[in-house]
Amino acid sequence: MFKKETYIARREQLRKDVKHGIIIIQGNHEAPCNYRDNTYWFRQDSTFLYFFGLQREDLVGVLDCDTGKDYIFANDYDIDDIIWTGPLPSVKKLAASVGVKNSGTLAELQDFCTNAVGMGRKAHYLPPYRSDNQRQLSCLLGIKYASVPMYASIELIKACVKQRSIKSDEEIAEIEKAIDTAYNMHTMAMKQAMPGRYEYELAGIMEGEAWKGNGPVSFPIIMTIHGETLHNHGHNNKLAKGRMLVMDAGCETAMNYCSDITRTVPVGGKFDARQKAIYEIVLAAQLEAIRIARPGITYKEVHTEVSKILAQGYKNLKILKGNVDDIVANGAHSLLMPHGLGHMMGLDVHDMENYGQIYVGYDERTRPSEQFGLGSLRCGRKLEKGFVVTDEPGCYFIPALIDKWHAEGTNKSFINFEELEKWKDFGGIRIEDDILITAKGCRVLGRPIPKTIDEIEETMSNR
Ligand code: GLY
Ligand code: MN
Ligand code: MN
Repeated sequence: MFKKETYIARREQLRKDVKHGIIIIQGNHEAPCNYRDNTYWFRQDSTFLYFFGLQREDLVGVLDCDTGKDYIFANDYDIDDIIWTGPLPSVKKLAASVGVKNSGTLAELQDFCTNAVGMGRKAHYLPPYRSDNQRQLSCLLGIKYASVPMYASIELIKACVKQRSIKSDEEIAEIEKAIDTAYNMHTMAMKQAMPGRYEYELAGIMEGEAWKGNGPVSFPIIMTIHGETLHNHGHNNKLAKGRMLVMDAGCETAMNYCSDITRTVPVGGKFDARQKAIYEIVLAAQLEAIRIARPGITYKEVHTEVSKILAQGYKNLKILKGNVDDIVANGAHSLLMPHGLGHMMGLDVHDMENYGQIYVGYDERTRPSEQFGLGSLRCGRKLEKGFVVTDEPGCYFIPALIDKWHAEGTNKSFINFEELEKWKDFGGIRIEDDILITAKGCRVLGRPIPKTIDEIEETMSNR
């Protein structure tokens, strides 16, 4: 936990920004896996962590914008719990540890909310992403379950985005800690990426390294020789020479700050000529984003410039043809990268995505595109000092998509489909770092993880 003054200041700012009414911020509950007492790994809600910092399940925080009072509500544990869990602090003590002076039971929370609603006060809450929290809001506020998302507070979403988008020095230090653990995860796995090993063995090595850093992985590990499937979570393939292995994995610190790193390596440790050709194009694109990302430019513009580097590279290989600006304007290059350049990162690996992409990744001036590929850009808005975003271009030869575009003649004036046939067995490459927008540019966070061809070959030869 950060010191309590940090949470007090964040809550004070939130009340100031939302102005009137009450704000309800729900923590998460345990989620049963196959029966009540065998639960999934507990993950506290990130908004709750940001404003209250507490890890216990079933907590609800309330901020009263009109009186300036903050509350934590939950039921205390009794001896029947404690014999299983060990001693646990009271709700009052937990509240005090983060500077919250008022606490109460869940029954008292119900009374508090019923009163507030009865007085016609506005109750601000965020769109729930778990059904148990949606049900709790339905009961607390007397709103039909299905209607709860509809009444989520836009003022609260905007106020949370405003604060959480700008990472403080202490948050950046936590994120760098998560990236340093990701360094261990990635370099350990790289060294084992030899023919005959299985993807699940390497995924297991990574998961172990994450726990050695005292946190879980920040999302299910992507470890695949079929990197053309963007979020391939299967781990059953045997590594074979000639394949590129996409490793997209990060971890959380004990405070739940995340890392999200992708490296792609040749099975066996040596790039062949084809692999080098595509890798150099993706790497040049990834470095271009680092070169130009700065306050004032939109990430949509950075995505477009990066796309031009990719398009020029594919044109050199005769996969694409025509004018590079026209290729990009028409989205022809998106056949090989049907996703955006990156997303915000912080307490969530896709930071704040539960609030709604339109509020997190876009603003009044920068709107999402509907074009294939660019439409999947999760963060397009103007960059500001203190943002942490991922920079993750890739190249994917997706046979089904290539066949579809070929059959439909999509962008046929820019695509050399005959040449493309030769690449359909290639797989995919993605390279991803987490970058901090600084006063004049950006900085790649954390201990540098081998990324150039030479660095990767060198790391993989040192086993
Ligand atoms: N790990 C998923 C992503 O890079 O966004
Ligand atoms: Mn990733
Ligand atoms: Mn990512």
